[in-house]
Amino acid sequence: MTVQATGSAAPRADDSALAAGDSTLRAGASAPSTGASAPSTGASAPSTGASAPVLDVRNLTVSFATRAGIVSPVRDISFEVAPGQRVGLVGESGSGKSLTALALMRLIHPPGRVTGQVFLGGRDVLRLEERDLAKVRGGQVAMVYQDPMSALNPVQTIGDQIVEAIRIHADLSAREARDRAAALLSDVGLQDPLRRMKSYPHEFSGGMRQRVMIAMAMSANPVLLIADEPTTALDVTTQALVLETLSRLVAERGAAVILITHDLGVAAGFCDDIQVMYAGRIVERAAASRLFRNPIHPYAEALLRSICDLDADIGTDLPVIPGQPPLPSALPSGCAFHPRCLYAIEVCRTVAPTQLAVGGGAAMAECHRAAERIAGTAVPSADPGIAVAGSDEAPSVPPVPSDVPSDVPSAAR
Ligand SMILES: Nc1ncnc2c1ncn2[C@@H]1O[C@H](COP(=O)(O)OP(=O)(O)OP(=O)(O)O)[C@@H](O)[C@H]1O
Ligand code: SF4
Ligand SMILES: [Mg+2]
Repeated sequence: MTVQATGSAAPRADDSALAAGDSTLRAGASAPSTGASAPSTGASAPSTGASAPVLDVRNLTVSFATRAGIVSPVRDISFEVAPGQRVGLVGESGSGKSLTALALMRLIHPPGRVTGQVFLGGRDVLRLEERDLAKVRGGQVAMVYQDPMSALNPVQTIGDQIVEAIRIHADLSAREARDRAAALLSDVGLQDPLRRMKSYPHEFSGGMRQRVMIAMAMSANPVLLIADEPTTALDVTTQALVLETLSRLVAERGAAVILITHDLGVAAGFCDDIQVMYAGRIVERAAASRLFRNPIHPYAEALLRSICDLDADIGTDLPVIPGQPPLPSALPSGCAFHPRCLYAIEVCRTVAPTQLAVGGGAAMAECHRAAERIAGTAVPSADPGIAVAGSDEAPSVPPVPSDVPSDVPSAAR
């Protein structure tokens, strides 16, 4: 296995590469920036050949001017999404997941500032003219929002809203668009679509509204769908139905997906690859199967430990990640995770870690101890910051739940 530094990810991590245990490690130059990074001006657009990514994000930074000064909740992140690939973006609240999605759609407005490059189909979304941007949004890339009630217009019928979305991107008559809307509603599993089209959003259940959002998002056959917590507010059964619908539609149309979720079970069931975000950085990227079996970054491991283990003895404390995620205005020095990290060592407090590519770039972890963690030689620190403040004992590390969490049916996998 070759392990080297990288600035951007290749899609799909390779399990076997990690298991093979090649010890070639090269630390690289892609240290995270601590503030807003300047846009890269020299990079050319990615190739648009058959294997070209549908999305190529380079050095994306989102900044806001606040009373505390300029803060950057998303800091210099780079990643790619291949055609048809399903990428999960996971992390605690406030890690920058939604801002990343909004920045990709160019939905962050002044005084927010976005720098970097977002190539979609070879064109940089951040530099498109408004008229071209309107075609890209909803056309090449579409978004499903967490709260459909606030994304749908409460005083317009469901049918009118879908028809409007269809006609923005397709030269269809009103009747043709209406037929297409009915077909889409049927595709997402709504019975009697022609009657349903006359209803208003408040007449639908949460799961039905989420399906309507999916129908609207898929109406222009986007190459990339961004779904920001699409099932968080739904009960587990409805969540599974919505994910099944989403899974089937993107598979039929060959669309790639970025699924933003707090729920590692959902990510495990739906995604090929997972990107773990912490304090505005992507700190680990890997195939879902590998990440759940063998996380490299201590934060990824801690997130996995926090999953409820149904086989645990009654009365067993649920492992939690000590402390709170940092505010963008008060990022710790060095590695932003160091005050909470069981593996923190002295260098972590002062020096930001670089990215270590794994498996020839198929996966990545940003941690000073990534090589040790891969080799299985990293032991928890005797002085891991607030995790064991006041204790002389080295911390014990609870086990990662043995099974990949699975509260979505296999059809959604
Ligand atoms: N307009 C803004 N001005 C300043 N800070 C902001 C602004 N919008 C968001 N932030 C901050 O950016 C950070 C990341 O926000 P974001 O909404 O991306 O988090 P998230 O990972 O999506 O969290 P959640 O899981 O709760 O949805 C948060 O600390 C948030 O307070
Ligand atoms: S070991 Fe150090 S660099 Fe790695 S996550 Fe912990 S604090 Fe960060
Ligand atoms: Mg969010």
